Amino acid sequence: MKIAVLSRNPNLYSTRRLVEAGRERGHEVRVIDTLRAYMNIASHKPSIHYKGEELEPFDAVIPRIGASITFYGAAVLRQFEMMGVFPLNESVAISRSRDKLRSLQLLSRKGVGLPVTGFAHSPDDIPDLISMVGGAPLVIKLLEGTQGIGVVMCETEKAAESVLEAFMGLKANIMVQEYIREAGGADIRCLVVGEKVIAAMKRQAKPGEFRSNLHRGGSASLIKITPEERMTAVRAAKVMGLNVAGVDILRSNHGPVVMEVNSSPGLEGIESTTGKDVAGLIIEYIEKNARPNQTRTRGKG
Ligand SMILES: Nc1ncnc2c1ncn2[C@@H]1O[C@H](COP(=O)(O)OP(=O)(O)OP(=O)(O)O)[C@@H](O)[C@H]1O
Ligand SMILES: [Mg+2]
Repeated sequence: MKIAVLSRNPNLYSTRRLVEAGRERGHEVRVIDTLRAYMNIASHKPSIHYKGEELEPFDAVIPRIGASITFYGAAVLRQFEMMGVFPLNESVAISRSRDKLRSLQLLSRKGVGLPVTGFAHSPDDIPDLISMVGGAPLVIKLLEGTQGIGVVMCETEKAAESVLEAFMGLKANIMVQEYIREAGGADIRCLVVGEKVIAAMKRQAKPGEFRSNLHRGGSASLIKITPEERMTAVRAAKVMGLNVAGVDILRSNHGPVVMEVNSSPGLEGIESTTGKDVAGLIIEYIEKNARPNQTRTRGKG
């Protein structure tokens, strides 16, 4: 097969591993710099140009679109879809997953376990917002935060009020969430491919910290997940319409709750922690599922 990997940087671990795994299995794999692909939308025959040439046809495309280029990346991926190329994850599903609130709303509609979460615009609604999510302690999150930055824990309602006022004053988009203390500073990253969790790892925050992000000093280890956790991760990916996803789960005393569903999960941490050939399993998924013109939305959404 001819496989394109949409990625800004061929040297990133995940990109390198996908290229390597594809070639090992006898496929022709080419990395396309997402921001250098451009397209002719007016024509009846959609095409993609790249650094001065028209791109040859591909059988499948693996999108690795960073959060900062979601808008342009989704447009490029949609163009591949319009040309009938099989996308590992569809553009519509990726755009959807990048909106944290929309994702939680979709998951809640399908009854997937979630931390109790609130969202408001006006500072006048802060007191009720806090009581709605069950009072302190609670977690306040900037919607555009990553790597744990912009996630704040407030032990008291007074603290929560002033942090919320400050963020709202800065016109930041925020959500308020019940604090899952019983998770003990750990979360579980489940790597879903197709309808299976093919690898899972636990990330534990360093002592005195509740955020388990590796960038915040957390450490990863192997974990055996329960059937309920497995089912939750698979359902979350399915609700989002993602074939491949990194589903982050907290162990709460009301069962597993989904914190986030990531459409371009990194492979380095999960492969090195679990020893699984995740890249190989992704290529295998493509081999089994790639068909021309199979995108459900065909780039319409
Ligand atoms: N409601 C919560 N209760 C307990 N711990 C939480 C809660 N929300 C987040 N955490 C902890 O804080 C960490 C960071 O939170 P989260 O993943 O939501 O933000 P982020 O990592 O900054 O964003 P992203 O995952 O989109 O990059 C989580 O990995 C988890 O360990
Ligand atoms: Mg996170």
